[in-house]
Amino acid sequence: METIILAAGKGTRMKSNLPKVLHKVCGKPMLLHVIDAAKAAGSSREVVVIGSGAELVREKISGVEFAVQTEQLGTGHAVLSAKENFKNSTGSVIILCGDTPLVTGELIKNFVELHEKSKLSATVLTAELENADGYGRVIRESDGTFKKIVEHKDATEEERKIREVNTGIYCFDVRKLFDALAEVKNENAQGEYYLPDVLSILKSRGEKIGAIVVEDENLTIGINSRVQLAAAEKILRQKKNIEVMENGVTIIDPASTFIDSEVKIGRDTIIYPGTYLEGKTTIGENCEIGPNTRLVDMKVGNGVQMQFSYCHESEICDDVILGPYVHIRPGSKISRKVKIGNFVEVKNSNIGEGSKLPHLQYIGDCDMGSGVNMGCGTITVNYDGKKKFRTVIGDNVFVGCNSNLVAPVEVENGAYIAAGSTITDKVPENNLAIARARQVNKPDWKDKRD
Ligand code: UD1
Ligand code: MG
Repeated sequence: METIILAAGKGTRMKSNLPKVLHKVCGKPMLLHVIDAAKAAGSSREVVVIGSGAELVREKISGVEFAVQTEQLGTGHAVLSAKENFKNSTGSVIILCGDTPLVTGELIKNFVELHEKSKLSATVLTAELENADGYGRVIRESDGTFKKIVEHKDATEEERKIREVNTGIYCFDVRKLFDALAEVKNENAQGEYYLPDVLSILKSRGEKIGAIVVEDENLTIGINSRVQLAAAEKILRQKKNIEVMENGVTIIDPASTFIDSEVKIGRDTIIYPGTYLEGKTTIGENCEIGPNTRLVDMKVGNGVQMQFSYCHESEICDDVILGPYVHIRPGSKISRKVKIGNFVEVKNSNIGEGSKLPHLQYIGDCDMGSGVNMGCGTITVNYDGKKKFRTVIGDNVFVGCNSNLVAPVEVENGAYIAAGSTITDKVPENNLAIARARQVNKPDWKDKRD
C-alpha cells in the first residue's frame, strides 16, 4: 500500500504565516499525525505533496518522499503533481489530507481492506456530521449508491442541507486515478481542480465507486480554521488522557491535564491538576507529578515527586524530590535522591546523587558531586558579562548560606565554605574556606555618636 498526503494548500482560513499542516495538535504537527497514521496502517511509502511553505515543511518532516505542487490549483492538481512518483505503481493508493490529524492507522487499514475486498476502482470515506459547513457534500443516487461530491461553495441550498460529507480520505486504483485526473476541469466556484471530481469521472466510465461512512466522525475532522484546530486539540487530548489512564496512570483531573501525543508515562504514577507534559517527555513509574507543573522534553525516572515546577530538556533520575517553584533549564542532569526545594534554578548542570539544594539557589554551568549541601541563597557566579564559566564542586561539600562561587572555580571533596563567603580560588580537599571580612564590634559606639 502506498500513500499520497496532500499538504501543499495555502491554509488561507488559518490566517497564519506558518503552513497549515505544521500547526500542532497535542504538541505534534498535524501532518506528522497523518504520516504516522499511514505508517501504522502498513503503508510502504508516503509521498507528501508540498507547495505553500514547502521549505519549512521539508525542515520539520522527515522519513517521507516529497512531490512539489508549484501553484495551488486544487486537490486534484495536487495529486497530479505526484504523478511521476507513481509512474511504476500498480494496485491501490490511499490519499489522505495533511489537515485531518485525528485519523488513525486502524481506520485507514480497515478502510483499505474494505476497498480491496469489494473490488472497487475508488472508495471515498464519508462522515455524517451535525454541522457540515465547509465540507464537500456526498450526493447519492436514489438507490443509495454514490453519485458525486459537491463542494460547499458550489452547493445549492438543498445540497447544503445534506449532512454526509467527504472526509478527504480515498482509496484508488492508482492507474485509474491518474488516468481520470487528466480529465478534471476547473469550472467551479473556486476555479480549482477538485480531486473528488475523479470519482464521478470514473463512475461515468462505468467503474465501481464506493462511499463508506466512518463509524467515529471525530476521527476525520478536517482543520481549516483556528476554531477547528482547538476542537481537534480537545478531542485528541481526551483520547491521550484515556490511553494514559488505561496504561495504569492516575489523572486526578483530566480536564486540567494536558499531555502531548508522544509523551510516555509509567504505571502507578499520579498526575495532579494543572499539569502540562509536552514534547518527547517520558516519566517512569510511581511518580507524583504536579499540581501545576510543566515538563517539556524531559526524561524523568521512577519514584520522582515534583510540584509547582517547570523543567525542560533535562534528565531527572529516580527518587528525586523537587519543588515547589523550581526551574530546571536545558542540559541538566539531576541524579538519584537529590532534593531541590523552593525557588531554585538549575541550568546546564550535573547534580550528584543525594545532594541537597533546599532553598533559593542559582546553579548554572556546574558539576556537583554527591552528598553536597548547598546553604540557602548560594549562587554559582557563572557569567562575567562576556563569557560563561563552570563551577566544579566535589563530593560531600558543605556550602554555607549566601555564598558566591565565582567561576571558573573548584571546591574539592569534603570542603566547607563559611556562610557569606565569596569564593574566587580553589578550595582544597577537607579545608574550611572563609572569604569574608572578619566582624568588628565597636563597644559603646551608640553612646559616643550621640
Ligand atoms: C477538501 C475537499 C472536501 C472535503 C474536505 C475534507 C476538495 C476539492 N475538497 O476540502 O470535499 O470535505 O477536504 O476535509 O478536495 N491542498 C493541496 N493543494 C491544493 C489545495 C489543497 O495540497 O492546491 C491540500 C491542503 O494542504 C489540505 C488538503 O489538500 O491538506 C485539503 O485542502 P483544503 O483546502 O483544506 O480543502 P477543503 O476545503 O477542506
Ligand atoms: Mg481542509
